[in-house]
Amino acid sequence: VNLTYRLPDGTERTLRVPAGTSAMRAAVDAGLPGIVGECGGSMMCATCHVYVEGAGRGDLEGPSEQELAMLDFTAAERRPHSRLGCQLPASPALEGLVLVLPECQA
Ligand code: FES
Repeated sequence: VNLTYRLPDGTERTLRVPAGTSAMRAAVDAGLPGIVGECGGSMMCATCHVYVEGAGRGDLEGPSEQELAMLDFTAAERRPHSRLGCQLPASPALEGLVLVLPECQA
C-alpha cells in the first residue's frame, strides 16, 4: 500500500507500507519528522496525531470512541479530520489520501 505524508515543512513523502502496518509505525520507522508514537500504538499518548486530507471521500472507517476521546489530548489543534496515526492500518482506503503531519506532537 502506498501512504502519502505531508511533512511539517510542506514536502510530501510516499512510503510503500505492508497492509495492516499502522500509519504511525510506518512513519516512525522511516524517520519522518512530525510524528512520535510515544506509546507504541496503544492509544495512550496522542503523539501520532495526523490530519487526514480527503478523509470525507472514499471508504476510510471513522475513529472509535476511544480514539475520539484520545484526540482531545493532541498537542496541535484538533480538526475535523484529526486521527491517531496508530489507529490507521495501511489499506487501500488510505491510498490517495494525504496524512498531514502537524507542527508539534508534545
Ligand atoms: Fe500513542 Fe497513537 S502512538 S496514541
